[in-house]
Amino acid sequence: MTNIEPRAPWRATVLTLFPELFPGPLGASLLGDALAKGLWSLEAMPLRDFGIGRHKSVDDTPAGGGAGMVMRADVLGAAIDAARARHPGLPAIYLSPRGELLTQHLVAELAAGPGALLLAGRFEGIDQRVIEGRGLREVSIGDYVLAGGEIAAMVLIEAAVRLLPGVLGQPASLGEESFEAGLLEYPHYTRPRDWEGRPIPDVLLSGDHARIAAWRRAEAERITRERRPDLAARAPRKPA
Ligand code: ADE
Repeated sequence: MTNIEPRAPWRATVLTLFPELFPGPLGASLLGDALAKGLWSLEAMPLRDFGIGRHKSVDDTPAGGGAGMVMRADVLGAAIDAARARHPGLPAIYLSPRGELLTQHLVAELAAGPGALLLAGRFEGIDQRVIEGRGLREVSIGDYVLAGGEIAAMVLIEAAVRLLPGVLGQPASLGEESFEAGLLEYPHYTRPRDWEGRPIPDVLLSGDHARIAAWRRAEAERITRERRPDLAARAPRKPA
């Protein structure tokens, strides 16, 4: 039987102490339109609902002493189990500066799947046993430390959702952008033709599409070499 069932919308489920932060910027512009149209879905599950005792406590002092508080394994375990029971099959990710770096490659892998269950931590971090016991994949959005995982979760969601079919106005622009060919993007220009004594490069006004493509490729390679020699070393020599 051919499968003509429409694919279920890509689902982002975020476990957070601050559900009111969502959708936030994810509700604006093309992603917000796509959310309203049901091309993807978003649910912020309040971790506080799984808190312990009268005060719905979610954290405690670190074993072994030291500054700050640690999010409790029992609270997080119960929250993850509840989210998984509602939406089985989502890869579970803990946003953490200690994780593997979020790259366009990982973003594309996640966008191709059913969605993501994202745990946004606060305080000093979360009990290590949850990471191991629930098989969480740790992902970092860069080598700096945020106050919590919510904005990192938003970064991951935005990067993935914009790759979903029908979300961006012009799918052709996806293939040319930064990182798709392992290169940074070439520079863009539009009207006016001359701005403050800075003209648009002649080649872009030539109408010669082959020359324009070659110029763009050369610029992308130059900019990548200058700014990101690490990427330049890995980029293929010729366009795919
Ligand atoms: N939480 C705090 N800092 C972070 C980072 N750099 N990436 C992902 N999650 C984080």
